[in-house]
Amino acid sequence: MTKILMVCLGNICRSPLAEGILKSKVYSFKTTVDSAGTGAYHTGEKPDKRSIAIAKENNIDITQQKARKFSVTDFDEFDCIYVMDNSNYENVVALARDEKDISKVKLILNEVFPEENLEVPDPYYGGAFGFKNVYKMLDEACEIIAEKINSNE
Ligand code: 4NP
Repeated sequence: MTKILMVCLGNICRSPLAEGILKSKVYSFKTTVDSAGTGAYHTGEKPDKRSIAIAKENNIDITQQKARKFSVTDFDEFDCIYVMDNSNYENVVALARDEKDISKVKLILNEVFPEENLEVPDPYYGGAFGFKNVYKMLDEACEIIAEKINSNE
């Protein structure tokens, strides 16, 4: 069983897209994908309309997702915690209890560009282009993550 958690700040723009995209690429029933935010500002809300729209353009439905805040118990629940940017990384690692927790946290773009520590930019205050750009980055990263999962199971 592989359990993957996608994390951003609000859990309404980037991580819901990452969750939806990865789910669309993984075939195994032995894999679960979820998402959360390090902030609680949008708890209970649906993804941002612009994330819903870019997902829909790519035949992915993320309308059933609901934002929730990252919790320390997520370290027990998930094998791998992908964060979008350095600030998410710091916020999640600040809650880690030990080295094992820390070892689960990874910048998602390091799957595409290993060790470069590149960030998926926060598109919240920008326009539709930002969401298209974020979608493309997450699609590439999730393709690589899914290939690994699909070849292991
Ligand atoms: P996300 O984007 O972290 O990709 O979900 C954001 C959404 C909301 C806010 C910031 C970032 N906010 O400040 O409300």
